[in-house]
Amino acid sequence: MNLQVEIPGRKASLLLANPVMTASGTFSFGLERGHMFDIQKLGAVVTKTVTLQPRAGNPQVRTAETPAGMLNAIGLQNPGVDAVIREMAPRWARWRIPAVVSILGATIDEYGRLARRLDGVEGVSAIEVNISSPNAQRGGMEFGQDAESAAAVTEAVVAKTTLPVIVKLTPNVTDIVNIARAVVDAGADALCLINTLQAMAIDAQERRPTISSTFAGLSGPAIKPVALRMVYQVASAIDVPIVGCGGISAGEDAVEFLLAGATAVEVGTATFVNPRAPLDVLEGLERYMHDRGIEDVGELVGAALRRV
Ligand SMILES: Cc1cc2nc3c(=O)[nH]c(=O)nc-3n(C[C@H](O)[C@H](O)[C@H](O)COP(=O)(O)O)c2cc1C
Repeated sequence: MNLQVEIPGRKASLLLANPVMTASGTFSFGLERGHMFDIQKLGAVVTKTVTLQPRAGNPQVRTAETPAGMLNAIGLQNPGVDAVIREMAPRWARWRIPAVVSILGATIDEYGRLARRLDGVEGVSAIEVNISSPNAQRGGMEFGQDAESAAAVTEAVVAKTTLPVIVKLTPNVTDIVNIARAVVDAGADALCLINTLQAMAIDAQERRPTISSTFAGLSGPAIKPVALRMVYQVASAIDVPIVGCGGISAGEDAVEFLLAGATAVEVGTATFVNPRAPLDVLEGLERYMHDRGIEDVGELVGAALRRV
């Protein structure tokens, strides 16, 4: 049974032994002790989003449970790119599997600088670009909510790195295909869909928003149908490798994303409920293929798309 998938890059490709990765921000940097399974059985680890300078994140309360999901507004707490390169990359270099570093800039220039800092660093196999960052020049609208800004960020990153570049789209837009096309035309090697959905919770006892930053991102099983729809729409319209993400907690969820056109998947929130979730997803995918005599995971990719 072949589970291997490839995300071709302009200079180097991202080769995954299997299509199951961790989602940014839900698995830290993959280096903590006490993981419930051998993470090197996964396809890759995607790190917490890294910024140029260290960030402390938002004050508490930063998370809340919802029916079938959770809200988070962590505020990109991270040690900064220099500490990541110094302390974490040498450990990733000893791994059998790739580490994909997620980056976010406050400006287009910062995105480019982050990409340049990571280029050629041993242990870093690809960059995932988190474009859910407020663009001060556009009144705080996120880069990923505007096709022109999303393309400008992509161009800045691609120009500064030889690594494969995956751009992670925000679902908080009217026309996801329009944004996806702009980002692909700007040089992205692959897309990741989706980041969290803008949401909020209100504490009825206290009569105020539950989360300190008021608004937060919704994730988990509740968003899976939205994520599937967006993967399907983009895969129908554009020929580009897609990493599906949103509410995946079991093998069949991953299968559904592959059938919708994803080449690989990421598992996020499910890890908080079941720390073994990424491995369970992989084993469930293997079982699905085994039970149906599917020899190559590539046979599933896009198989549910209606061809015209
Ligand atoms: C606690 C938490 C922290 C997150 N941090 C990040 C982050 O740093 N960068 C990012 O691109 N996405 C981040 N995400 C979004 C996830 O990577 C993922 O896109 C989203 O949660 C949907 O997938 P899921 O339903 O499997 O969690 C975070 C999600 C959660 C729940």
